[in-house]
Order: sequence, then structure tokens, then C-alpha cells
Amino acid sequence: MITGKEADLGGESSYQKWLKTEGIPIIRDFFIKDLRKVPLEPWERKGGRGVYLNLIGTGEANDAYICEIAPGKSLKPQKHLFEEMVYIIEGRGATSVWTKNGKKQTFEWQPGSLFAPPLNTWHQLFNGSGSEPVRYLAVTSAPVVINLFHNLDFVFANGFEFGDRFTGEEEYFSGKGKAYAGRLWDTNFVPDVRGMALQEWRERGAGGKNIMLELSENSMAAHISEFPVGTYKKAHRHGPGAHVVIIGGKGYSLLWPEGSPIQRFDWEDGSIVVPPDHWFHQHFNTGREPARYLALRWGSKKFQGLRKAYGVDEDVKKGGSQIEYRDEDPKIHQEFEAALAKNGVRCAMGSYHPLCAEKALAQAV
Ligand SMILES: [Fe+2]
Repeated sequence: MITGKEADLGGESSYQKWLKTEGIPIIRDFFIKDLRKVPLEPWERKGGRGVYLNLIGTGEANDAYICEIAPGKSLKPQKHLFEEMVYIIEGRGATSVWTKNGKKQTFEWQPGSLFAPPLNTWHQLFNGSGSEPVRYLAVTSAPVVINLFHNLDFVFANGFEFGDRFTGEEEYFSGKGKAYAGRLWDTNFVPDVRGMALQEWRERGAGGKNIMLELSENSMAAHISEFPVGTYKKAHRHGPGAHVVIIGGKGYSLLWPEGSPIQRFDWEDGSIVVPPDHWFHQHFNTGREPARYLALRWGSKKFQGLRKAYGVDEDVKKGGSQIEYRDEDPKIHQEFEAALAKNGVRCAMGSYHPLCAEKALAQAV
């Protein structure tokens, strides 16, 4: 428990005080180049090795951690009152999920798998290999829950069972799901987000595709987006805490608060970036393959309210949050063409962007 007596009134949040007791390093940055290479330290509570990510763009709206399970080992069982989405970076294994009276469910996963242990259920992760470690990324709502209740017994030793989320149903984690309009897929397990079929999302620009994911009746949610070779997405902005994990391709992202200098982060498969609260951000594919990312964030469409679902594909001039190509700073397109030229890739923005050199060339002949 974090008691009032321990409060130093110095402005540190209850969540930050708890983090210190976890005994593993905390990374505070805008960006991490490769999740696979981040050094980890022994993590007593989990029984593995780990590191916390408090990326600057989260603003304690949520957090993330990386955890490793040694070959042939398992983590200690966990139960908590914050939501958690798990993305498998490397390795193969299984997760068991159970409640006090329910039957245990066990499902297997591989690199690229995504799932969420239902809220406050017991869950345990196992490494299925005797020779290779497992490394996964989790995004959680721990900062909100711990800051709100600041009582760790309530958060980690609470007997309440959320029967509206999970009652031990057979096939809960089978990967079967339900499709809704608006590119929405409601499921509890995605076998491989890197290979999942996506649908066209015209409003976000340049041939982009996407699918929205609802997991385990959570208030947090996810989406997968992909954009073609030689293209980039329109800039937009929204609230904090969208953990953008690159799961294929090569390129860069620009981040800037309105009226301030732009920061650039060059990424590849395994990078992660979190755009800060209402900073504009824009993603560019400079590689020879489609670029694909997984975003782990607030904004469930089924359970709205805590944070507004992202209305991100409308023109800022009409009250939306997106900068149309015709209105962006011309330097943005020039920088993109220069980056493509370095990689020997042709710009494919001709049919989308008024300033594209390819378009000018086509009109001249
Ligand atoms: Fe975004």
C-alpha cells in the first residue's frame, strides 16, 4: 500500500512510487529503435527479466514493459486490476488463464501473436522452447488504475471477478472473432498481427489499409495499419498513449506540437514510438516493402468514455485532427523524396499529393 505517510508532497505520482518498488530499469524517451535489443534486468514479481517503458508520449495515460521468459521456464502467475495487451516479439509458448471457480484455459502463441488476459483473471505465461528465450511487449493501464486508487492490495489482490468479460468460456482464445462495420474485428487472440488481412482506409491517405481490434472486452484497444512502398500517411493528432510498434518495413515518423520544430525518428521492424498528447505525427515508408505497424492504445469502440475514440481522419480545417496533403508544409514532401532517393525507391504519391515530383513529370510528357 502507498500510504499518506509516505507521500512526500513532491509531485511524484502514486504510479511512479510503485514503479520504484518493481526494481527494474525504466526507459523514458520518445522512441526505441529495437525492442529486441533493449537490455533487461531480473524482475522478482514476474520471475523473468524486464524493463519498464514510460515513453514520453504516454503522459501516464498508460505504460508498457518488455519481459523475457528464460528457455524452459515460466513466469509467476499474476492477477491485477489494470488491463494488459501482450504482443509476442520473439519466441513460442503458451498462456493459461483462470478464475477462482472457472476452468483453466490454455492457448499457444508465436512471434506476432497478440492477446489480452481478461481483467483481474489469473494468468501465467510459459516458454515453450528449451533453447530460445521468449520476449514480449505489454501495454497496460496500470498508471491510471494505480494513480486513481493508490492501494496496491486493491489492485493486485482483489477477488472481484468480471463475469461480463470472462467466465472461462471454451474457445475464448481460439482466435475466432466477430467482424463489425468500420474495419473492426472483435476477438481475444490474434495469431499473427504481421500477416493479418487488412482493409482499405481511404480517408487516411495514399492506399493505406487498416483493421481495428477489440480484445477481451477491454477499454483499451489496438489497430494494425499498413501503407504501400513509396507512400506516407497524412499527419494527424490525438490524445496520449498510442504505442506504435513497427512490425514490418522501414521508414520514419515526424512528431511536432503545433507551431514547434519537427522531430524525426527513423524506424525499422521492432521500433516503437508514442506521439505525445495532441502532437501532430506522420509516418513515412522509405523502404522496399509495405510498412506495417501495430498501435496499442486507449479508444475501444465498444466501451467508449474514458478517452474519446479517435476521430482522426477528418480535415483540421473542418474541425478534425488531420492535415490534408495539399495543406502540409512543402518541406515534408521534399524530405520524403530525398529519403526515397537515398534508398533507390520511387515516390508513389503522384495520385495523392499535389506537390509530388512524379505527378509533375507525368503531366510534362
Ligand atoms: Fe496516430
